[in-house]
Amino acid sequence: MDIILKTQAGLEDLLAKESAELGLIAPKPGRRMVSGKGDLKTVYRLNYESRLALKVLVQLDQFDIPGAQGLYQKAMEIDWSQYILEGQTFSIKYTVQSQFFNNSMYAAQLLKDAMVDTIRDKRGSRPSVDRKKPDIVFDLHIFKDRVSLSLDSSGEPLFKRNYKNKTFKAPINEILAAGMIMLAGWKGEKTLINPMCGSGTLLWEALFIAENRPPQFFRKKFSFKKWKNYDPGLFARVAESANSKMRSPKSRIVGLDHNPVSMKMFRKNLQELELDSHIHSSVIDFFDYTNNPGHSLIIMNPPYDERLKVDNIKKFYENIGDHLKQHFQGNTAWIISANEEAVKSIGLRATERHTLFNGPLECKYLKYELYEGSLKDK
Ligand SMILES: C[S@@+](CC[C@H](N)C(=O)[O-])C[C@H]1O[C@@H](n2cnc3c(N)ncnc32)[C@H](O)[C@@H]1O
Repeated sequence: MDIILKTQAGLEDLLAKESAELGLIAPKPGRRMVSGKGDLKTVYRLNYESRLALKVLVQLDQFDIPGAQGLYQKAMEIDWSQYILEGQTFSIKYTVQSQFFNNSMYAAQLLKDAMVDTIRDKRGSRPSVDRKKPDIVFDLHIFKDRVSLSLDSSGEPLFKRNYKNKTFKAPINEILAAGMIMLAGWKGEKTLINPMCGSGTLLWEALFIAENRPPQFFRKKFSFKKWKNYDPGLFARVAESANSKMRSPKSRIVGLDHNPVSMKMFRKNLQELELDSHIHSSVIDFFDYTNNPGHSLIIMNPPYDERLKVDNIKKFYENIGDHLKQHFQGNTAWIISANEEAVKSIGLRATERHTLFNGPLECKYLKYELYEGSLKDK
């Protein structure tokens, strides 16, 4: 099977590495995606165990079209009744960048028509589209005259891990959080401190990494469970095998935020899943926190003055830099922010930088070694 993993920009190389460990053959990173080969077991493993994939697609066909109607004609050659079973609903997710389609939705409509028409001809009844809770999800990708048609084995995007009931203001998504921790090279061996932790997404993902807990441990729904070839025994074996590798976290994971409401929600969530003993959290202003454990990793997602407003954002970032410099020498800090101007006020020299996306916001993710020699004269 040809497998396509969708992900966020900046995480492609990490995902190629992760997916190889999960059985994807010949993973090749592309733009916001990784492609490779595998079987049904690989599809199940990637869905259950990948921390960085947004969706796991199985490609059904790819072809060139001479014009818009070519999509309908080619799609009519596929027996869609093997994918949409009697009584099942479906939906089509689409990305279209093509001279043949000014309106992307038109492309999806043509494909839908071909699906419905082939099935009606075969069965005499038409399947229905359900945009909210479809059984079967297809992915249509058109770039110029190249069409790629896939089955989406995940359904809901895989950042929906189903462990958080409520989120607070400006959370980052789970895939970005996992990616940030993995880019920092943390595997759970030393203390991780997450000041300004908000709803705790980074802390959850860090805990799961430290425990070696499969990211979808709490998720039940995957679109592949509705497929004709779904093998529940195989999926159970995949999940059991991954779950059996879980371990007790060895390191300290520390979350700090000055907002008591978000912290309360975070702790309640942890308690509900009986995971509260593993994460130390305090309601404290970062600028009052001086407990330096040394040899630790500090990861921060401070406000950008976008969704969360700050009075004097440059001064705020300057204070973050000063506080790290004065109280956290001997550690490594990583900071993500969409506010490039403010980041310049941190006043520390970054030794590594990545471009990542927090939703639509382009962010810089920067590494600072907090030993004296790295401090830039201000
Ligand atoms: C962008 S949010 C972090 C979101 C978080 N990564 C998540 O996924 O939910 C920034 C957080 O910084 C916190 N914050 C802002 N100033 C702070 C300060 N001086 N001390 C501690 N926390 C602060 C806010 O309460 C907010 O929760």
